[in-house]
This record gives sequence, structure tokens and C-alpha cells, in this order.
Amino acid sequence: MSILKIARMGHPVLRQMAEPIKPKEIRSDEIQRLIDDMFETMVEYSGVGLAAPQVHVSKQLLVTEDIPDPDSDDGYLARRSVVINPEITFLTEEQIAFFEGCLSIPDIRGRVPRIRRIRLRGFDPDGNTIDREVEGFPAVVYQHEVDHLKGILFPDRMGDLTTLSFGDEYSRYMAPQPEPLTD
Ligand code: NI
Repeated sequence: MSILKIARMGHPVLRQMAEPIKPKEIRSDEIQRLIDDMFETMVEYSGVGLAAPQVHVSKQLLVTEDIPDPDSDDGYLARRSVVINPEITFLTEEQIAFFEGCLSIPDIRGRVPRIRRIRLRGFDPDGNTIDREVEGFPAVVYQHEVDHLKGILFPDRMGDLTTLSFGDEYSRYMAPQPEPLTD
């Protein structure tokens, strides 16, 4: 496995429509190696998700990392996933907003409104169909990654750019602060 070079904002590959992967190509060595390398790259740079155009491959493939949640039964809000040729449909008009970041836009954060509940369809790395409903933060991650496959970056989705921040300033002024201790 190898750690791949990340394309940064301004590189044209991030603004292209990615090509669908043919079902018979999914189990090819080329695609399976790309999936392994994308996981290794995402872990190396502490990403929560990664889309193939971010590693200079204009194909419809994304990976997402485990999302821990101490309150859930198995300890996770969502498990690691690979989605090939993903399609999203919105299941509500209700929005949620998180501060998002992107490995292709290093050290920048911004608050992005997204749809709270989606249907996600596509193929897994064995070529099986994926068709499931996703909500909350994992739904936001999929919307961010699927946008990458359409040449869309998170600042395009912000509307209001006033929360666009560098990492240090985000931590200082915008990140949720711990509750003050009271006695
Ligand atoms: Ni991104």
C-alpha cells in the first residue's frame, strides 16, 4: 500500500466530473489497490473521508472512516465504508450544519448547511449494491465526498462565507467551548 499525494484546491482534477466505474472493473486489481491506498492516505492525514479526485484519480469512488460515538451500542455512529458510483437523494428538506474541513483545502474550516437525512445508493468493493438511509453527521460526510465527484468543494456550499476560518482561529473563536465548571 502507499500514501498518495493529495490534490489541493486549484488543481483542475478537483473541478471535473468524475467518471463512473464499470461494474466489471470494480474487482480489478487497479480499483482494489486504489481503495487500499485511499484508506492508507485518509488515515495518514486524519481525514474522515476521501474521494478519488483528491488523489488525482477522476473516478466515482469514495471512502469514509469510522465515526466513533460513545453513546451508541457498538461505539460507532458509522463504520468505515467504500462507495462506488454513489448517488444521493434527499429524504427531507431539514438541514444541519457542521464546520467542515477538507484535505484538499488544508487548515481551512467553514460552516456548511447540508440535508439531514439521505438515501445513499452505489456499489461496495465486492460489486454488491448499496442502498441505505443515512442521517446526521455521516450523511454530511457522504454529501461532502459525493460533491467531490461532481467538482464541488465545501466553500461552494457555504452560501454565507463569514465563518470561513483558518484552523487556529476556528479553534479560538468558533469551535464549541467546553462548559465552564460550576460548583
Ligand atoms: Ni473534501
